[in-house]
Amino acid sequence: MCGIVGASGPGNQVPQLVKALSRLEYRGYDSCGIALQATGRIRSVRTLRRVTDLEQRLTTLGLESTTCIAHTRWATHGAPSEINAHPIMSGDAIAVVHNGIIENYQTLRIALSSRGYTFHSETDTEVIAHLIHSEYTGDLLVAVRRAVKQLHGAYAIAVLCANEPERLVAARSGSPLVVGIGAEHNYLASDCWALHHLTDRFIYLDDGDVALITPERIQIIDADGRDAQRPLFRVKAHDSAVDLGPHQHFMQKEIFEQPKAVRDTLAAIDTISPSLFGAGVDARKLLSEVDNVLLLGCGTSYYAGLTAKYWLESIAGISAQVEIASEYRYRETVTNRRTLVVAISQSGETADTIGALDHAKELGEPPATMAICNVATSSIMRATTLAYLTRAGIEMGVASTKAFTTQLVALLLLTLTLARLRGRLTAAQTGEWLDRLRRLPTDIESALALETQIMGWAVDFADLEHALFLGRGMHFPIALEGALKLKEVTYIHAEGYAAGELKHGPLALVSGAMPVVTIAPDDQLFQKLVSNMAEVHARGGRLYVLTDSSSAFDTAKDGRLIRMRDGAGMLSPILRVIPLQLLAYHVGCLRGTDVDKPRNLAKSVTVE
Ligand code: G6P
Repeated sequence: MCGIVGASGPGNQVPQLVKALSRLEYRGYDSCGIALQATGRIRSVRTLRRVTDLEQRLTTLGLESTTCIAHTRWATHGAPSEINAHPIMSGDAIAVVHNGIIENYQTLRIALSSRGYTFHSETDTEVIAHLIHSEYTGDLLVAVRRAVKQLHGAYAIAVLCANEPERLVAARSGSPLVVGIGAEHNYLASDCWALHHLTDRFIYLDDGDVALITPERIQIIDADGRDAQRPLFRVKAHDSAVDLGPHQHFMQKEIFEQPKAVRDTLAAIDTISPSLFGAGVDARKLLSEVDNVLLLGCGTSYYAGLTAKYWLESIAGISAQVEIASEYRYRETVTNRRTLVVAISQSGETADTIGALDHAKELGEPPATMAICNVATSSIMRATTLAYLTRAGIEMGVASTKAFTTQLVALLLLTLTLARLRGRLTAAQTGEWLDRLRRLPTDIESALALETQIMGWAVDFADLEHALFLGRGMHFPIALEGALKLKEVTYIHAEGYAAGELKHGPLALVSGAMPVVTIAPDDQLFQKLVSNMAEVHARGGRLYVLTDSSSAFDTAKDGRLIRMRDGAGMLSPILRVIPLQLLAYHVGCLRGTDVDKPRNLAKSVTVE
């Protein structure tokens, strides 16, 4: 999704800023641009193409600057086009880059038009540029503060003013922004990852903050107009994440990193205890008080929550609801004040999940809130009392893979902790669970070894336009995730279904042209699933079955089989998803899609 970077300091900052922008490319974008201070005026360069194109154009034009802002845009208001790409200017005086959505932009646009402002783009951002221009009386910081007071919605902005050559002003509300502190330079970004080649010292702006950034100083003014001090964080870079190694794409690399990601996520654990979820807070007291769990997330993180519901109810004996964050935040719900609210998000910046968490807090629902997240410094991690940091490492592929499996591990640890607190597990049983979890990385390696067989399946799928994924019980969410992965990276229309629902509608779609992927472990629902598969077979559907090594299947009758190791038990969803990730990846490669950056999608969805 949209990315912001900015820099102010001696020397030409353009090459560093372009590099910073390229570090945000993995998040997905459709256009990009830069605005720079150049001897008393602002120059702006925008392109509908990649950051490398922007770089070439800057080199050709020979543009240099000490103070600049740049942006990758993921279109919300207005089609992807050069005219809608940021920076957006107000005349020659003000340049703005913006992440987020201004909800009252129509009203503001009418008001500004009546005051003589002309709009050139279809963006909501243009109202911000003109609003700042209209409020400007010689001090950019003051003008931005006045302007943002009139905005409704979510935003992170960076602003340049032609009259103030070394000054960069930033503001945020609902979208992340971080200031990077250098030796002689200061920087700005929507994600500290963008700046890791420049600094490891960061200040996170709070909602309502407006900041002035010059080479010498950072001045932050909070929502109430007071000077604010925000803590300085040191955040180490993990630059190995940007090397593909022997892999062709980040998605493949990240699928194969799952044994390590799970091992790292479990690394510091020698026992199951509430303290896993919070050091400085009384996690035991908070978790002992809950009798219900509400899991909130979007996309793949939502499916992690759906899987955890099965674990929480059967292992911990605690009721659990899973809500799509964008739905929950606007729904009237019945409040249970003994609810643990768990926000699941790999990025920790998803606007809907943050909104849902805020909504739960406003309802007075939770005695405890918990983040399950892959970014230690993210907004969601800072907004909850309890947290579990998954250690998947940065995930560059837009389609989540290793972040998902580590979320599942974290949710299983939460389940075991609640089960222990509720007297559902003895110390010995807890120890057995830990042993099984520690074997998980090796079991994942066995699942990854199925890649060649999956590639055989992928050839069959490459020319198709539809697919069904079936699962039952805790594998139903894995069927949903398998279908989501396939549609995200191959653009094949895929649907996940609870296998028992087949006869209630989707069976109408089944013909010789419909592949049906079935997750069929040899568990208590196996015979039921066999009946569901027979329904597909009888209608000429093409079955692709993920089953166990010992289950009784007739390949001639039952379609193509891939057998996985027996005995995964409750850990099975974590293993079964891996062949489905590989299937999506290889089908995407065969179809020639951009598997790491699927069209229209973004990694970190910071708008509603
Ligand atoms: C986007 C990504 C998905 C991700 C979802 C939720 O849609 O493309 O991969 O599952 O956002 O993101 P989160 O960071 O909250 O897990």
